[in-house]
Amino acid sequence: MVASPHEDYWVRPMQVDDVSAIERLTREGFHDLDVRTHRAHWPAPTPRSESRSELWRERARHLLGTDRAGCFVAEDESGLIGGAISLRRDLTWILSSYVVRPGLQGRGVGRQLLQAALGHGSGCLRGLISASEDQPALRRYHTAGFALHPTMFLRGKVPREVLPVVDRVREGSASDIDLMDSVDRRVRDAAHGVDHGWMVRHHRLVVVDRSTGSGYAYLEDDGGAHLLGATNRRTASDLLWETLAASSPDQECSIGHLSAANPWAIDIGLAARMELHTTGYLATRDMRPPAPYLPSGHFL
Ligand SMILES: CC(C)(COP(=O)(O)OP(=O)(O)OC[C@H]1O[C@@H](n2cnc3c(N)ncnc32)[C@H](O)[C@@H]1OP(=O)(O)O)[C@@H](O)C(=O)NCCC(=O)NCCS
Repeated sequence: MVASPHEDYWVRPMQVDDVSAIERLTREGFHDLDVRTHRAHWPAPTPRSESRSELWRERARHLLGTDRAGCFVAEDESGLIGGAISLRRDLTWILSSYVVRPGLQGRGVGRQLLQAALGHGSGCLRGLISASEDQPALRRYHTAGFALHPTMFLRGKVPREVLPVVDRVREGSASDIDLMDSVDRRVRDAAHGVDHGWMVRHHRLVVVDRSTGSGYAYLEDDGGAHLLGATNRRTASDLLWETLAASSPDQECSIGHLSAANPWAIDIGLAARMELHTTGYLATRDMRPPAPYLPSGHFL
């Protein structure tokens, strides 16, 4: 347990019992950020639906199981006031969630939480964070040595007539994890490993395994990619089209975390008549934004 210099709060390892309170704090923190900046920071519906909240909690429990040493909370006499969840995969450290209660921000709580989480990445060669537009967050990441790459997202209803015929994209399963890990290592230098085990249970998966290229995409419930990696642009493009084909023509779907390193995805989104917007940053340390690759917000 690390006491603050003023000793009115302390930072300690996260426990499973903390997960619900931290999930509520992230809802509160991001709602406050939307209000402060007069914009929605992610195309997902706000407030977070109960099913998305449960998914958040399940993911946090998964990461607490795999990376207990990377998960911390800040607490004062009133209860939990902040949390950070981080993971390391191969030699890459990733920040998955990071929040301090609105009204208590800007007093150094976030600095202590991030410092503790960064300790989990000691010895790592690279770092990745999906960053909001929150100014305090950006200061923290920049101070920690991260480069900030602006990101975009696509959103819209995809008319059926724009969808091309895509060959040899098949449904994936847990038996594809080795294939996906090798794509990950090639594209972002680190396999998702145990996170594939979690994502396979919570998202539909499609896979391409051809002599000319391989790749995979996890889908959002409404269609669109949750995470996509491929060994070349052609394969990545086929996979992205397949995720858009899974959307309903009457319902908006979205693709997020697009860095400028992935113009192929913007080509497809605009060809699919989706809107293009900017939001947030991909924060990288000692690596370039991966491509062809669309990161997941929490597993990157
Ligand atoms: C990001 C967050 C966790 C940081 O926690 P925090 O307790 O506010 O962080 P700290 O007080 O340690 O540091 C904040 C830094 O921003 C600065 N800051 C505070 N308000 C600011 C503002 N309005 N504009 C610019 N900088 C500001 C502080 O001076 C400090 O920088 P310094 O250490 O160089 O002086 C917290 O602000 C938060 O929950 N934000 C909303 C949710 C979010 O966006 N999370 C990040 C997801 S990627």
